[in-house]
Amino acid sequence: MAQPLGASIASSSADASVDGEFRMTDKDFLLIAKVLYEDSGIALPSSKSALVYSRLAKRLRALGLASFKDYCSLITSHAGASERVTMLAALTTNVTHFFREPHHFDHLRKTLLPPLLDNARRGGRVRIWSAGCSKGHEPYSIGLTILDMMPNAADYDIRILASDIDPNVVEFGREGLYDDEALKPVSSELKRKWFTREGGEFRVADELKALVAFRELNLIGQWPMKGRFDAIFCRNVTIYFDEPTRQRIWGRFTQLLEPRAFVYIGHSERMAGAAAEQTTLVGNTIYQLN
Ligand SMILES: C[S@@+](CC[C@H](N)C(=O)[O-])C[C@H]1O[C@@H](n2cnc3c(N)ncnc32)[C@H](O)[C@@H]1O
Repeated sequence: MAQPLGASIASSSADASVDGEFRMTDKDFLLIAKVLYEDSGIALPSSKSALVYSRLAKRLRALGLASFKDYCSLITSHAGASERVTMLAALTTNVTHFFREPHHFDHLRKTLLPPLLDNARRGGRVRIWSAGCSKGHEPYSIGLTILDMMPNAADYDIRILASDIDPNVVEFGREGLYDDEALKPVSSELKRKWFTREGGEFRVADELKALVAFRELNLIGQWPMKGRFDAIFCRNVTIYFDEPTRQRIWGRFTQLLEPRAFVYIGHSERMAGAAAEQTTLVGNTIYQLN
């Protein structure tokens, strides 16, 4: 983790204090970590203190605060509710790419989608959830895979729910504007068919946008969805949670799956607990409901 300029981390590994333009004591760090955990399930080890410092020092400057102690008072006060959301957005990791972990999209194309799209042609419904969708690269990659197989997919009852806790990334995804660099993993054919150039950037076409519904949703909160999913993508999200939180979320996923539906998780994750017993590992980080 890069240490912020002008900041030095206390030498003791148990001590999360950071000195710099502002002083962040161990107590400040622990309070920030507690608030983040309660709000999002994200567990912050003390090894992340320099990262927390560098991301939140900007907030202190913007708010004109003199110390992390003042920032902690703000986020624990009634008046600080909106700053808690800003803090959460500042501390979440939103790294994502189009067609990240390509073997999942191969599985979609070869195994999951053929029967589902046939069913949609006969009037059935198809529901896929990208849980922790970040800036939309993941749900749009699912949408692009569908459109490549069924160019008129938007005319059928096929929907991708794209949800994230961070309102900024949800808005970004909904806007659907990406630069050349972001679109590098997208084939030139898919780019030509399903994006339109807008200045120096590319906007997702209406047919692609129509497949994806973006919503703010906290995975550790209430889930308003009633219907079941044919597949859930929750990749590189639960790595930030502790094991009990992870297992609770996976368990809730299994209750929302159609029979024999699939769950796709990130490359460094392994499903455990009750959800692992109710599913079978059928591919690299791909689980199918028994
Ligand atoms: C590293 S990104 C992963 C994006 C995408 N799934 C991928 O693999 O490319 C992790 C995302 O999880 C979201 N996240 C973290 N905690 C969350 C929570 N409690 N509920 C919903 N989303 C959460 C973050 O805001 C972030 O956008």
